[in-house]
Amino acid sequence: MQVVSGIQPTGTPHLGNYLGAIVNYVKLQDEEEKAGRKCLIFLADLHAISMPHKPAELHSATLEMVATLVACGVDPSKTVLFNQAQVPAHAEMQWLLTGTARMGWLNRMTQWKDKAGKNREGASAALFGYPVLQAADVLLYQATHVPVGDDQKQHLELARDIAQKFNNDFASEDAPVFTLPEPYIPPMAARIMSLRDGSKKMSKSEPSEMSRINLNDDADTMAQKIRKARTDPEPLPSELEGLEGRPEALNLVTIFAALSGSTPEAVLAEHGNQMFGHFKPVLAELLVEKLGPLRDRFVELKEDREALTAILARGASQARELSAPTLDSAYKALGLVRGR
Ligand code: TYM
Repeated sequence: MQVVSGIQPTGTPHLGNYLGAIVNYVKLQDEEEKAGRKCLIFLADLHAISMPHKPAELHSATLEMVATLVACGVDPSKTVLFNQAQVPAHAEMQWLLTGTARMGWLNRMTQWKDKAGKNREGASAALFGYPVLQAADVLLYQATHVPVGDDQKQHLELARDIAQKFNNDFASEDAPVFTLPEPYIPPMAARIMSLRDGSKKMSKSEPSEMSRINLNDDADTMAQKIRKARTDPEPLPSELEGLEGRPEALNLVTIFAALSGSTPEAVLAEHGNQMFGHFKPVLAELLVEKLGPLRDRFVELKEDREALTAILARGASQARELSAPTLDSAYKALGLVRGR
C-alpha cells in the first residue's frame, strides 16, 4: 500500500476539504505508521498556476496550507509533507506522460469543461494538461490509494488510463513502470454540498462566503453560516428515505454524521421530527466543538514561517529521493537518457 494525495494551496480550506480528504490523510497516516510506511501529502502549487493567480500570494498561501494540514493532524514526522514546486520530478514526469495522454481523454474531463466554460480558446494550456500533472503526482510514487473527495474520481480514472497505456506501450508485462492507483473516497462525506444550494458542491471558488464553512472561521461565523444555511420548512424525517429530494437537509445531516463519527441513520433516529430551528444550533455547536481547536492550532502555527518552511524542505528532500527510481524507469522506458 502506498498512500499519496494533494491539495491546492489556493483559497481557504473548507469543511468539504476536511471531511472529504484531510480526515482520511490523518486516518491513513496513523494506520500506515503502524505498518512502518509513510504517506505522501503535497501542496499542489504547480496546479495553482493553471488559473489566474497572484504570484506574491502563492508562497504564503502554501505555507498557510501546511499550517492547516498540521493543525488538522497531519504529522510531518509520520507523513512526507511537501510542495510540488520543490520536487522537479513532478513537472518532468508530467511531460513524459503528455506523450501518452490523449487529447480526447482530456477533453472529456468535467473540471476542464467547468473551469474553461465557454472560453476554451482563452483557457490556459496548463488547465487542459492539469490532469496529466495530477497523474504524474501519484504515479511517481507508485501510489495504490489516493484519499480524495468524489470530485477527483474522474482525474484518478484518467491517471489509471495513462498508467495502463504507458505500461502497455513502453513496458513489458512482467515489469510495468507504473502501479494503477485507486481513489480512496469516504463513504459518507464524499461530496459535501454548498450551504446555499444543495445541488452544488462546497467549493473554494464559489463567490458567496456563506456557501461554505472555512476551517479558519471563528465560532460566531460558523454558527451564523449554519443558521442561514438554506433548508426547507419540513421537520427532519426519522428515516433516511425521508431525505429524498431534500438535498440541503441531507447535506446538514451528512455533516452532522461525519463530524460526530456516526451515520445519517443514527442522526435521524436521534433528531428525527425536529425542526431546523432546533437542529441547526446543535449542529453549529458540534462544528465549533470539532473545528474550534483546529482553528486555534492553525492560528498559532501559521505565525512560525520558519518552522513551516523547514517542514517543506525536509518533505521535499524525502520526496525527491522517493520519486527518483520511477522517474528513471519512465525515462528509460521511453528511450531517453536522463541528464543529471
Ligand atoms: P482541491 O484542492 O480542490 O481539494 C482538496 C481535496 O478536497 C476534496 N474536496 C471535497 N471533498 C468533499 N466535498 C467537497 N465539497 C470537496 N471539495 C474538495 C477534493 O476531492 C480533494 O481531495 N486536483 C486536486 C489536487 C491534486 C491532487 C493530486 C489530489 C493535485 N494532484 C493528486 C490527489 C492526487 C484539487 O484541486 O483538490
